[in-house]
Amino acid sequence: MAAAASPTGAVRHGPAAGWRNAAAYLQDPLPYLEGVARQGAVTRVPFPGHHSFVFVSDPELIRRVLVDEHASFVKGRALRAARRLLGDGLLTSEGADHLRRRRMIQPVFHRAVIEAYGAEMVAAAERACMRWRDGTVIDVDAAMTDLALDIVGKTIFNADVESEASEIRAVLEAGMGVFHRFLLPGAELLWHLPLPATRRFTTARDRFDRMMLDLIRSRRGAPPGRPDLIDHLIALHDENGGGRLSEQEIRDEAVTLLLAGHETTARALTWTWHLLTRYPEVASRLQSELADVVGDRPVTAADYAELPYTQAVFRETLRLYPPVWALARIATRDVTLGELLVPTGGTVIMSQWVVQRSAENFTHALAFRPERWLSEPPPHPGAYFPFGGGPRLCIGERFAMLEGVLVLATIARRWQVTTLDSTTRIDARFTLRPRGGLRAMVSATPEA
Ligand code: HEM
Repeated sequence: MAAAASPTGAVRHGPAAGWRNAAAYLQDPLPYLEGVARQGAVTRVPFPGHHSFVFVSDPELIRRVLVDEHASFVKGRALRAARRLLGDGLLTSEGADHLRRRRMIQPVFHRAVIEAYGAEMVAAAERACMRWRDGTVIDVDAAMTDLALDIVGKTIFNADVESEASEIRAVLEAGMGVFHRFLLPGAELLWHLPLPATRRFTTARDRFDRMMLDLIRSRRGAPPGRPDLIDHLIALHDENGGGRLSEQEIRDEAVTLLLAGHETTARALTWTWHLLTRYPEVASRLQSELADVVGDRPVTAADYAELPYTQAVFRETLRLYPPVWALARIATRDVTLGELLVPTGGTVIMSQWVVQRSAENFTHALAFRPERWLSEPPPHPGAYFPFGGGPRLCIGERFAMLEGVLVLATIARRWQVTTLDSTTRIDARFTLRPRGGLRAMVSATPEA
């Protein structure tokens, strides 16, 4: 259906409408997406440089795009633009190349391998709060980022990346600075202009690349330790006489997993502390589950299965604050969605933020109610998709769930984390971040 001009002004038509829509979106994407969804489950919006830009919020249609008809779509412009940082890794590749990469990387995410990472996850969470002092104020968002980076470094790379953390942070910050560019017509041209944001990005990326190549090279010929991602990729390279994976390809996969593997999980943990502060009754139910199951001993990976409420808390955060807040796909052939034709080359946007907070899909949709995951039938898979779906489903889903639950359990057993910024502004770029960080008071729990 073609959208009429809305009373809220979310979708504009007529002269210069595309630019006004783009400006409204760039200014504050989340309310903009909510406004579009109010106009219908499938809405075409004029956008400059896109001959068809279609927003879809019907779970059934989302499922069709991600799963049933995935072969009719490729990833959207944002991820294509992300190639400047990620290269051609698993997240950004397409078609047969994607399938080959997915098969290659899958062994690193085997269930048994992930479970073995559990002890590292708990140890990293214990190290993180060892630095906290009772009654002090910390930036919990920064703390969760350092912790998630420590975890992905120790598990997937078998490396201590603490000294590299500032380079990693710098490249992500600089990437955020150029992130929304992909939306604009002539975005390619912008990369060739001497803009300060572009310069900041390329300088940070070059420094980061040198660090990654050093990390990869230092592993060649190193005494064998626990086999990890880089060993696995180097072995594939060597077994095939260097014909299968170049150093650049190893770099691209490693960068993808390092960045995708910590930025998302860190955000989910940050928002969990925010929600637990706002819903003390949930925090106290979480405490009683932890007291019953874990008691005073250290948390172990085996506890995961015994902590259904803690799992539900993390799942519910991913519903209300999905770190990946929208997915885009470009049609490679004409596809009809509802009453609308998405022509070849048209863009489809599906927003987890919108769909997972909709009263059409969840009762008490805006309330933090982890118990819904224990006592209600599961939602339509197209209504809850924090990890995407279909063949492009997040390869790290199991890893992220285990990490979320073990970190929450480890920290919440010993510390009460009370967030202090009640009017948190959300910065929606690669992921949903609290703008300017999130301050929290940490207090040792009486039993600890
Ligand atoms: C709460 C944490 C996480 C969330 C919310 C999340 C979300 C997502 C989503 C939505 C996608 C699909 C993107 C698309 O279809 O365009 C994705 C893909 C991916 N994620 Fe995650 N992710 C998380 C954690 C992780 C972790 C821990 C890792 C690795 C250690 C990881 C690595 C990847 C990779 C490599 C892909 C691309 C998979 C493919 O295309 O085959 N993610 N993630």
